[in-house]
Amino acid sequence: MSKMKKLIALVAVCALMMLTLAGCGGSSSSGSGSGAASGEKVLKVGATVDFAPFEFQDESQKEYQGFDMDLIRAIGKEMGYTVEIQNIGFDGLIPALQAKNIDVIISGMTITDERKQNVLFSDPYYQSGLTMVVRDNETAIQKFQDLKGHKVAVQIGTTSAAEVKKIEGVEVKELNTPADCFMELKANGVDAVVNDRPVNDYYITKTGATGVKALPERLTAEDYGIAIGKDNTEMQKKVNDALKKLKENGEYDKIYAKWFGDQMK
Ligand code: ARG
Repeated sequence: MSKMKKLIALVAVCALMMLTLAGCGGSSSSGSGSGAASGEKVLKVGATVDFAPFEFQDESQKEYQGFDMDLIRAIGKEMGYTVEIQNIGFDGLIPALQAKNIDVIISGMTITDERKQNVLFSDPYYQSGLTMVVRDNETAIQKFQDLKGHKVAVQIGTTSAAEVKKIEGVEVKELNTPADCFMELKANGVDAVVNDRPVNDYYITKTGATGVKALPERLTAEDYGIAIGKDNTEMQKKVNDALKKLKENGEYDKIYAKWFGDQMK
């Protein structure tokens, strides 16, 4: 073969390889391991999977577990979408939504005016609020105002972090997960954890936690909402319509009963 012919052959082989590689890249990125067939509509969901009973991992189960996880899968189904859930740190959720890496957030996220400047919210889907967890032998801290002069752990970027910062004279430690906060409490690194009530209650009653207790006082009343990109009013309507449908057809109640028993809504 002449030099020229060899060169042309080499270029042709390279071009073929590049095409093949590009093809592989394309199919694996759209599937993300979920097995979504091409042409299927995929709802990319962001959640911080550290918040039982709303979103958590159970070693024995393949799928993420919890009230939010069941609810968003039901909403996706109702909308005709395949749901893909990504686990993202809580302070990274809204940035991921703004960067359009995800379509919606469901993560026990409280609807707040501050967040509304950056995202849209669905209609409220769960009523929550904040309580405190302290060590069993704690006597000095009974009310939120007693936190003055104490160290308190909260999950970073949460309403707990924002509320505790409002109480004068509190040393706030912002940690990555509620589990980190509870560990810090047990290790005497802080004197209290402020966190969402249902998550504190689940931790105390369902995970066999010892040496700690939840206090009854509620600091706030908060509504959870599904967050959607600021310009995506079309998605907001679809999510709200699906949520409404699930409330009407009893599916929402079934999911609620599965995670919260016959507790009052
Ligand atoms: N409701 C609180 C908030 O919106 C805490 C949510 C934390 N969620 C989680 N999956 N860790 O700030």
